[in-house]
Amino acid sequence: MIKPHGSDTLNPLYVQDDAKRAQLLKEAEGLPSIIISSAAAGNAVMLGGGYFNPLTGYMNLADAMSVAKTMHTTSGLFWPTPVMNVVKDASAIKGAKRIALKDPNVEGNPIIAIQDVEAIEEISADDMKLMTEKVYATTDMDHPGVNAFNSVGNIAISGPIQVLNYSYFATDFPGTYKTAYEIRDDMEKLGWQKVVAFQTRNPMHLAHEELCRMAYNAVNADGILVHMLLGKLKAGDIPADVRDAAIRKMAEVYFEPNTVLVTGYGFDMLYAGPREAVLHAVFRQNTGCTHFIVGRDHAGVGDYYGPFDAQAIFDEVPKGALDIEIFMADHTAWSKKLNKVVMMRDVSDHTKDDFILLSGTKVREMLSRGEAPPKEFSRPEVAKILMNYYQSIQ
Ligand code: ADX
Repeated sequence: MIKPHGSDTLNPLYVQDDAKRAQLLKEAEGLPSIIISSAAAGNAVMLGGGYFNPLTGYMNLADAMSVAKTMHTTSGLFWPTPVMNVVKDASAIKGAKRIALKDPNVEGNPIIAIQDVEAIEEISADDMKLMTEKVYATTDMDHPGVNAFNSVGNIAISGPIQVLNYSYFATDFPGTYKTAYEIRDDMEKLGWQKVVAFQTRNPMHLAHEELCRMAYNAVNADGILVHMLLGKLKAGDIPADVRDAAIRKMAEVYFEPNTVLVTGYGFDMLYAGPREAVLHAVFRQNTGCTHFIVGRDHAGVGDYYGPFDAQAIFDEVPKGALDIEIFMADHTAWSKKLNKVVMMRDVSDHTKDDFILLSGTKVREMLSRGEAPPKEFSRPEVAKILMNYYQSIQ
């Protein structure tokens, strides 16, 4: 199986030994503690599950700035986005060398991790702005990722962590939430060597299903890892449980058994377009996937990124920095001429009118009215689940 990023074996930061974990939890209860941001909790979950291998904890300011500016840490590790624990006020842990991190996303704020504090640094407004510009390519506070990144405070607490649980992801999404090491185990049991990963934060319509099939066939893969984001999204995006049900249905009805693993990871959406696409590639390598699909407007939002910026950024990834290969996809849609889903680059004789193209808004309106989109756009089983959801929120 493909090696993880930056090391020969995966080093997840979750403390797997039950007795050790119980002992650490006991210790943590006596430590100075702080409620962290949702983004920092997501980082802990990703570090815990091995997704952020080989990082050992939260970056200090120098590393975060270096990553933002050059996509490398100060010691030269390739990494595309800052992984930080930023708070508004660190007075509760002043002088402490070891602290308990409390989860903002679970009732009662249970302890999610223990951190050894290496530094507590104030991030200047200029540094914050520079990081935002580099990572999100905009500083517009209307951008949901920029807004989240700039709303957590300006005090960075850096240092290694030991992770004690997977927040709400393991409990709320049993069977779907998986760590990188669990995915590696599952793929090994299935005997998969060549695996195509598909990132999603949306339910999968026919174009997405076919996109996975095209990539699977093109690289002659053993399997497809559908890997959905289970963390926070902007208002209006479809909740993870509904999306999970729709994707499971699609995989069950329309794919051969044992060719698709439907899984999810616990992280809030950054909406950072190109930089997030690179992060996505890094952590799919950590799950053992050999190929990663990057299509149209990957991890984008609004008009902040060009439709293929998230592909172009891979030209800036130094040769050899990543082992995972990127399957770059053009816009896929149903061709009325050919009666199947095609990639636009493959049908140069087509004009816009030869495709069935529906905007997200139009599809939402139809589903809310209890009207299924055409079968050339959505599988009826998927449409039914989405219609039920939209009608339930009216
Ligand atoms: S994302 O934010 O998780 O990237 P989404 O779930 O919409 O959003 O997309 C998942 C993947 O499918 C991304 O790689 C995206 O580029 C790709 N994609 C979505 N729709 C299309 C399409 N019509 N044509 C080509 N690629 C697409």
